[in-house]
Amino acid sequence: MSAIEQTLQSWRDRTERALHNWLPSATTLPVRLHQSMRYSVLGGGKRVRPILVYASGLAVGARIESLDAPACAVELIHAYSLIHDDLPAMDDDDLRRGQPTCHRAFDEATAILAGDALQSLAFHILAQDADDSLPAQQRLAMLDALAIASGSRGMAGGQAIDLDSVGRQISIAELENMHIHKTGALIRASVKLGALCQTGLDPAMLENLDHYAKCIGLAFQVRDDILDEESDTETLGKTQGADRALNKPTYTSILGLEAARELIHELHNDAIARLESFGEQADALRWLARYIIEREH
Ligand code: IPE
Ligand code: IPE
Ligand code: MG
Ligand code: MG
Ligand code: MG
Repeated sequence: MSAIEQTLQSWRDRTERALHNWLPSATTLPVRLHQSMRYSVLGGGKRVRPILVYASGLAVGARIESLDAPACAVELIHAYSLIHDDLPAMDDDDLRRGQPTCHRAFDEATAILAGDALQSLAFHILAQDADDSLPAQQRLAMLDALAIASGSRGMAGGQAIDLDSVGRQISIAELENMHIHKTGALIRASVKLGALCQTGLDPAMLENLDHYAKCIGLAFQVRDDILDEESDTETLGKTQGADRALNKPTYTSILGLEAARELIHELHNDAIARLESFGEQADALRWLARYIIEREH
């Protein structure tokens, strides 16, 4: 493992510990709800979004202790979005992270509530964080950024566009808009929340980080579309070919595999160019940009 991979692993470990501690125990009433929340959050996952929070925060000199709460919060929103995304009314998937989806392992009503409760827990963590080194105004800005990124003008809105697009021929601009919202918004928020853990940041620096995040957020979903087409169920831990089976417009169905691959390379280069002024403290962000376009699951 390279030095950078070891660092990323240490952030992943931090995230696992913090998530474990923040989630109510499996014996807390109502037991079935808390079991389902723990099942969906602690059952694997690459933790890309929390790692982005650490990478971005540390790139601008934030204290690592300030980053634990936003790292957990974005992962909980993500976990909630996956539980609901898999429901019969949405993508109707049976497999997630190599295990039965939440509504399969429990039941539909429990899965809906688990998603609801994870979303609330995310905001609770961000509001309650014991690390009081951040000014209240900065914390409010973080709460606001996460709320906007999760809601109808962010992830939930993107999911609405996704569902509305099933079986339709949509333009590349519409496709990009859908991906930027359903997946890009939360990735962008991860980078922003990390940066907001530092005070007095140069607006130009924030703008560069935000552009980096916008590019890798879109690239992340384009790679997801490619993997759905060309990987296999075992590697993915989710059912391969689900997009095609559901007649979803994706970058591979609309642009084709080759053009989709070219696009993620362009997005990668655009993202990296925005980190030019950052020096080696942004190496983790550079590593993550490459990882996002090359990942195999
Ligand atoms: C899957 O996200 C859903 C998308 C937004 C494409 P990830 O690929 O980050 O899923 P996990 O968390 O690693 O399982
Ligand atoms: C999911 O997109 C985006 C969100 C969950 C917000 P997908 O539907 O492509 O994700 P997977 O492929 O099921 O992980
Ligand atoms: Mg979906
Ligand atoms: Mg899905
Ligand atoms: Mg997908």
